[in-house]
Amino acid sequence: MMKDIENREAINDMARELLRLMAAGTTHMVDDVRRVPAGDYLDEERFQTERTKLFRETPLVVAFTAELREPGSFKLHEETGVSVLVVRNEQGQAKAFVNACRHRGAKLTEEPCGKQKRFTCPYHAWSFDLNGALASLPANNLFGDVDKATLGLVELPCEERHGMIFAVLTPGAAMDLDSFLSGGEDLLRGWHLERNTLVGRRDLETRANWKLALDSYCENYHFHVLHSADFSYKVKNCAHHVRFGDKGQHWYLAWPSKSLEELRNVPESEWQDVHSHFSILHFIYPNTIMALYPETLSVKQLYPGASVAEQNTKMAFFSREADPSEEVKQLIQNRFDVFYKVLQQEDYWVCGGAYKNLESGMLPEILFGRNEPALTWLHDALDEGVGVKPAEKVREIIAA
Ligand code: FES
Ligand SMILES: [Fe+2]
Repeated sequence: MMKDIENREAINDMARELLRLMAAGTTHMVDDVRRVPAGDYLDEERFQTERTKLFRETPLVVAFTAELREPGSFKLHEETGVSVLVVRNEQGQAKAFVNACRHRGAKLTEEPCGKQKRFTCPYHAWSFDLNGALASLPANNLFGDVDKATLGLVELPCEERHGMIFAVLTPGAAMDLDSFLSGGEDLLRGWHLERNTLVGRRDLETRANWKLALDSYCENYHFHVLHSADFSYKVKNCAHHVRFGDKGQHWYLAWPSKSLEELRNVPESEWQDVHSHFSILHFIYPNTIMALYPETLSVKQLYPGASVAEQNTKMAFFSREADPSEEVKQLIQNRFDVFYKVLQQEDYWVCGGAYKNLESGMLPEILFGRNEPALTWLHDALDEGVGVKPAEKVREIIAA
């Protein structure tokens, strides 16, 4: 199994801060309780604005390097309503195209992923190469006079960075990942996500607004209550929080296991397998949660469903080894199955009930505690993203 040789310094920093918080019996907090109007989860107009501003105009993680290893590898990303073909071309670059034939709009493929040299339309066999260029147009002489050079696939801004492939689902839009990810790039680079190996994927749909489901990933206040059977090895109400990005829109958290205490009296120079004593959760705005463990990465991406009251969670889980054995893959699969059941039967069950209560109109608002900083950060960033109201202030950690 992989040891925590990646991001050693950052991991030690997290361990040191967690040990300090544990000794003080506290957690990172923000300055005040945050109130969220129920309408943020119910309002149709806001929902449509989110679909545009957050899911069409913001860089999204549309794939991971590990999902597109070889030239010709592709993945379909359709969760936003735009059918996007993410492809690795012959030169090894990641590209994103609208999965729509330039003849009469048919989808070039409906396979969720695969590998091929060209995309040939099932309707009249126009075919496109891995750079999106129209490579062949059958019966060209009969079709009429068109300039093939102008009939390539509609391309979307796309860039691969730190093992993730980002795209903005608006043709011609600017994408500035330097500022988007500022302050977090060293850490993200250090995880070497590009070395990971995909083990499996699964979806989880629930009747609830997508943000309510996303909220359930942002705090550990609920661990010893909702997940009392599974998380008793975790330290209660203790978490390390750091935000990054040009707008403070992303963050990472570290949640300690009780076993971290074992390191308290060991000199740092002798610390081993430090990451095995806590989980690290990254949030990449607006919808990607990555839980990093020494051997595994599990990704949850939450999308608005067909209505304001529906969401779709796409999950993928990876080995952090480049070439894991079948035994390791099975172990990861088993671990993920347990985790999936917990999410489905506990987190998403609560979420579905809470959403019904919000829909009943009986609750004016819900609350995020000072001890749930990532929720406040998330909703400040989402509010700013949709321009509903300016974030009142940047809320940094002020107490511990
Ligand atoms: S719609 Fe694709 S070839 Fe006609
Ligand atoms: Fe949970």
